[in-house]
Amino acid sequence: MATTTNDLIFNNGFLKGSPVQHKTTLIKDLTGVFKNEKERKEMDQERLVYEVDFYQPVEPGTSGGLFFGVTRIQPGKIGEEYFMTRGHFHAIRDRAEYYWGISGIGALILMDSNRKVRVEPMKPGTLHYIPADTAHRVANTGGSVLTFGACWPSDAGYDYEEIRQHGFAERLVDVGGNPQLKPEA
Ligand code: F6R
Ligand code: MN
Repeated sequence: MATTTNDLIFNNGFLKGSPVQHKTTLIKDLTGVFKNEKERKEMDQERLVYEVDFYQPVEPGTSGGLFFGVTRIQPGKIGEEYFMTRGHFHAIRDRAEYYWGISGIGALILMDSNRKVRVEPMKPGTLHYIPADTAHRVANTGGSVLTFGACWPSDAGYDYEEIRQHGFAERLVDVGGNPQLKPEA
C-alpha cells in the first residue's frame, strides 16, 4: 500500500500546514463597513477584528475544486454593531457555500438578490448552507472568539464591490444585550 503524508491539520479552530494561507483584517481595513465610522476611526487601527486560515488546493478560478477555511472573529463592538466580517457575494453568483460553528456564539447574516435579509444563529456544531446568489457575513455576538469553518467552490471568487457600494439592507445591532436586525436607514 502506498502511503502519502498530509501536512494539513485542522484542529481546535486552526488550520495549519505548509500550504495554508493566512489573512488578517484589522480595524484600519474596514473603512465604511460599520455604521459608526467615527468610532471606528477613533479606535486602535492595528486592532485585530478577524483572521482566516485557508487552503486553496487548486488555482482560484479553477472549476471543480473546493476551498477550505476557518475564520476567527474577535469579540468587540463598533457603536452598537458587533465585530463582523466584511461580507460578500460570490463573483460567480450561483456558487453556494457551507459554514459551520466551531467556538463562540454569533450570527450568520444572509441577504438574497432581492436584498431580503435573514439571520441564522451560530454556535458550536451548527451547520449553515449558504445558497447561491446570497451575500453572507458573520457577526460575533458573544464575549469570546467566534470560530467557524467554511467550504466553497474554487471558482466562486469574491464580489466585495456590491456590498461596498450598497451594504446589507439590515444591520445586526446590540439592543439591550440582544442581537437584533435593524433596517438600514
Ligand atoms: C469564502 C468565505 C469565507 C470568508 C471569510 C472572511 O467564500 O465566505 O472564507 O471569506 O469568513 O469573510 P470576508 O471574505 O467577507 O472578509
Ligand atoms: Mn463566501
